[in-house]
Amino acid sequence: MCGIVAYIGNRQAYPILIKGLHRLEYRGYDSAGVALIEEEDINIYKTKGKVADLEHYAESKNTQGTIGIAHTRWATHGEPNDVNAHPHYSENDSLAIIHNGIIENYALLKQALEAEGYTFKSDTDTEVLVQLIEYIKETNRCQLFEAVQSALKQVVGAYAIAVIEKGNKNEIIAARKSSPMVIGIGDDEYFIASDVTPIIEYTDKVVYLNDEEIVQIRRHEPLKIVNFQNEETKVDVQKLNMNITQLEKGGYDHFMLKEINEQPRTIVDCIRGRINQSATDVKLSGVIDHKEKFLNARRIIIIACGTSWHAGLIGKHMIEEFCQIPVCVEYASEFRYSHPVINSDDVVIAISQSGETADTLAAVELAKSKGAFIYGICNVIGSSIPRATHSGTYIHVGPEIGVASTKAFTGQVTVLCMLAMAIAKEKNSIDHQRYLSVLKSLYSLPNLLQEVLKLDSQIKNMSLIFTYAHNFLYLGRGYNYPLALEGALKLKEISYIHAEGYPAAEMKHGPIALIDNEMPTVVIATNDSVYEKTISNIQEIKARGGKVIALVTKGDQIVSSMADYSLEIPPVDECLAPVVSSIPLQLFAYYIAINKGRDVDQPRNLAKSVTVE
Ligand code: M6R
Repeated sequence: MCGIVAYIGNRQAYPILIKGLHRLEYRGYDSAGVALIEEEDINIYKTKGKVADLEHYAESKNTQGTIGIAHTRWATHGEPNDVNAHPHYSENDSLAIIHNGIIENYALLKQALEAEGYTFKSDTDTEVLVQLIEYIKETNRCQLFEAVQSALKQVVGAYAIAVIEKGNKNEIIAARKSSPMVIGIGDDEYFIASDVTPIIEYTDKVVYLNDEEIVQIRRHEPLKIVNFQNEETKVDVQKLNMNITQLEKGGYDHFMLKEINEQPRTIVDCIRGRINQSATDVKLSGVIDHKEKFLNARRIIIIACGTSWHAGLIGKHMIEEFCQIPVCVEYASEFRYSHPVINSDDVVIAISQSGETADTLAAVELAKSKGAFIYGICNVIGSSIPRATHSGTYIHVGPEIGVASTKAFTGQVTVLCMLAMAIAKEKNSIDHQRYLSVLKSLYSLPNLLQEVLKLDSQIKNMSLIFTYAHNFLYLGRGYNYPLALEGALKLKEISYIHAEGYPAAEMKHGPIALIDNEMPTVVIATNDSVYEKTISNIQEIKARGGKVIALVTKGDQIVSSMADYSLEIPPVDECLAPVVSSIPLQLFAYYIAINKGRDVDQPRNLAKSVTVE
């Protein structure tokens, strides 16, 4: 979703801004733009399309200046075109703004400004905000900082903004509410961005802006941050623990492929320091520090979206099986508006790779306001959700750049398993032998993932046969049902083929009507407690002429003899089978998308981090 990058310092801003925009491309966008102050004027260049199109457009333009703001836009208000792209000028071209988020009351504000004679070039809510700031600045004859502060008091919605002013090369004003913003502190220079990716190669010192804070970033001066009550807040400088190579493709054609292949290592990072070397104990400090909350929880509510929600469904199985605590898994977007009954003895687990998903963040705030204890399972360190929760566990899988979530999913399920084990041990609700066997499986995950990655060429070849199918069904039962949902989601988001995930036994209640020889079904039929039942479901498909691709446990003869194609998965405890089996499904989606010539890392219409409702 929209990306922000801004710079003020002694270097030329344009190359830094363009590089920063490239780093933000993974978030998903449809237009890009940049504003620079040179001499007295603000020069804005913007265009529909990719950052490369912007570079091409700006080639013959004056891109000088040591201060600038830049943006990638993911359209919400108004179609993706040159005019709606950011930055936006104010009425008199005295200000320029970039904005992530949505101004909900923009129509009312626009009406009021139109009554004052303001005109609008774009369809965006953002232009309304910059006009409002200019109006306040001119009518109150105040400084830019005060004008931004006063305008934001009138605004309802979510935003991260950066504003610059004609004739003022020394200042950028930025602010945030429910949309992330981070400031990098360099050597007499500042970098502003919606996440750390554009900043990381210049400095490891960052300040995360909190909600409802405005920052004055002035050349050669320390940062000044105030909250909406105009109280100065502490500038909390943090050290980044990430390096630039983590943001590059490392020899792979796509980030998605790199991230799929990284999983043996990311799982090592995920369990490091949490499971001891003899695989006999698990320690999560987020649980130890709040042991009573988990032991006394009457219920656990998991909130998440998309892939994280699928991981949550697997977590439900684990927590209910091993901890005997009832768990419900809610879409964060539905949870917010469903009048949820939340008690102070509920534990809410929020799962989010980005830690910035607007719906999940809002659901966290809602649950918190009702007194629940909130535990986060996130990837991006320092992002909004971990900062809004009482406790949590990072999945530590490193930056995930491909829009389709892969290594975050396996990290989330791994953390959920460790969480279930940690609670179960404290509650004494798990048989000790089973506890040891699950820990052993957790510890062996990296090796198993390495092994399953060897299926790559088999899957690549198989994908050629299925590239032109128009629909797919994915079936699984028990722990593998959420994986069926996840497999289908992966395929649809990057290949644009319609795919549905279903609990295998539910097929006969409807979807079986779709089965024919043009509708392939992917069945996750590994050897678990519902294996025999899944075999019956495969027979039902074969009896109707359907094509079956089966994921089977290594050495399986029965399903392999029934299926048209089978992929052998190394054996593992059934609760962790979705981690191992997710890899072939990710590769299958990847190769089909490649065969169809899709943009796998930035599929159409999708954003990596969904920071609007
Ligand atoms: O960052 P989050 O985990 O909160 O994101 C949630 C979903 O937007 C995300 O999982 C989405 O479904 C992915 N594109 C799936 O690959």
